[in-house]
Amino acid sequence: MEIINKPQEMLAWSRQQAQQGKRVGLVPTMGFFHEGHLRLMRRAASLCDRVVVSLFVNPTQFGPNEDLDRYPRDFERDMALVGQEPVDVVFAPTPDLMYLPGYQTEVSVKQLSTHLCGRSRPVHFAGVTTVVTKLFNIVQPNTAVFGEKDFQQLAIIRRMVADLNIPVNIVGHPIVREPDGLAMSSRNAYLDPANRSAALSLSTGLAKVREAAAAGERSVAALAQMLERHIHSFAGTKIDYASFVDGDSLEAMETVDDRTVLAMAVHIDGKVRLIDNGYVLPQQAA
Ligand code: PAF
Repeated sequence: MEIINKPQEMLAWSRQQAQQGKRVGLVPTMGFFHEGHLRLMRRAASLCDRVVVSLFVNPTQFGPNEDLDRYPRDFERDMALVGQEPVDVVFAPTPDLMYLPGYQTEVSVKQLSTHLCGRSRPVHFAGVTTVVTKLFNIVQPNTAVFGEKDFQQLAIIRRMVADLNIPVNIVGHPIVREPDGLAMSSRNAYLDPANRSAALSLSTGLAKVREAAAAGERSVAALAQMLERHIHSFAGTKIDYASFVDGDSLEAMETVDDRTVLAMAVHIDGKVRLIDNGYVLPQQAA
């Protein structure tokens, strides 16, 4: 496995792969790997001849009062983990290599970025779509694999790729969960044992909603009320949003149907903001 820091070297490597007829898969990450990331890498390897993992804590997707400075980082640990996976290159640029002096261009997906996380994180998605566009230009992947935990991010990236005719196949990979249901996230590293159980309010809330929907409840108002009560029954939780939305448009829904996704963001103990999501009703296999 090779580590490449410079965008021009990364691009040269990718062009060489293309000349050799190799399909490149990209897994964009911000590092501090957990099993969820490793599954994305394996998925990319199952679809492509070569796998590139980008590791870049992108400053432009963090707002002024967010956790950029304390975002968990451990490059050596990450390299040890990725070394055991079917990965050819880790692309790990520094911010000054990604954002040159005088940088002033932004890619933003207008409407989809205003919903859900976009309300409390107004600059976040423009930062994501800008850096992902840059990564696509630098790595030139045939396929890019993203986790479905960041459900809104995935919807926005799919829209961006379609709108801008970016020739990349976008693959979503299912949420990977801890045995007790907690969705894996690098930010779980912020949880101490005392608030680790409060973090389960999201996955157990999703399970309760699914149970009620399976028993016939279709009213979003009723399900939302039950969910809010459930989440707030865990000490230290504060709901940022818990919304029932259309899985494609992200527009709020009043009645549950096959397209309804429950998307949640919850602050735990004022220290960590976790997200989770899932379709409310069982989905037909594609
Ligand atoms: O999902 C993430 O880790 C980041 O938002 C991404 C896609 C790597 C862009 O910085």
